[in-house]
Amino acid sequence: MTGLSIENISMRFDLPNGSFVQALKDVSLDLGKGELMSVLGPSGCGKTTLLNIVAGFLAPTDGRIVLNGHTVQGPNAERGMVFQQGALFEWMSVRENVEFGPRMKGTPVSERRQSADHLLEITGLKDFKDKAIYELSGGMQQRVALARCLANDPDVILMDEPLGALDALTREKMQGLVLKLWKETGKTIILITHSVEEALLLGERLLVMAPRPGRIHREYRLPFAELGVDQDLREVKKHPEFGKTREEILSMIWEMEEEIMGRTEDA
Ligand SMILES: Nc1ncnc2c1ncn2[C@@H]1O[C@H](COP(=O)(O)OP(=O)(O)O)[C@@H](O)[C@H]1O
Ligand SMILES: [Mg+2]
Repeated sequence: MTGLSIENISMRFDLPNGSFVQALKDVSLDLGKGELMSVLGPSGCGKTTLLNIVAGFLAPTDGRIVLNGHTVQGPNAERGMVFQQGALFEWMSVRENVEFGPRMKGTPVSERRQSADHLLEITGLKDFKDKAIYELSGGMQQRVALARCLANDPDVILMDEPLGALDALTREKMQGLVLKLWKETGKTIILITHSVEEALLLGERLLVMAPRPGRIHREYRLPFAELGVDQDLREVKKHPEFGKTREEILSMIWEMEEEIMGRTEDA
């Protein structure tokens, strides 16, 4: 059995004052090998919590995560994480960052070198391999984060707003890179984003979550990620269906946020 199953996941955080937050309630989802899913939803709807549970950083209150037939018990290299920023080793070079996982695993030097060279090539980092992390721009650092994650050859890649800190132009380039890496490596990817456009571009499947309690609100299956592998992303955005779906999702999220505001004001 290959693929990722999120089975009836609920997560409740008990607070010191005796109250609790129901961060997730009964979230179920199957993701086939090689599928690319983006996740959207208002702030606080449990996106990061869900990703942390899939990563094995958090144990759910209820439910389980099954990957390739076995239940997830904790963090493991089969599930790689890419954060928004700050998770690189600043004191190591680009190459050393990319080779870190394989080195820890005891992969022979020549083998890990070769694999790192390939990853540095496809992420556009070849000419930067000896630079220190602090010498790189934010976009280049996220390239390193992607390459370092791929170097562990995970089955699933989990990304929590990986492009959220980048300027618009760099972000667009990086969106193209994510699509290219997805196609070249055939990895299963879950990508959280705040941007509706990014979710449309980077999700064959797009999940809209709703808050209080965090749950799945709606799922879309979209053609744009596949189109974006070969086409300019600006062209993809001109697709009539793209604009229509964007407006639909924007209204959906607006309504949720209005409702949250309303409830907060009433309280
Ligand atoms: N460790 C924690 N303790 C208590 N509450 C938490 C904790 N982590 C997250 N929460 C709460 O759970 C809800 C979901 O949070 P999160 O998953 O970070 O949402 P998102 O990533 O969608 O913005 C929020 O109400 C948040 O305050
Ligand atoms: Mg979050």
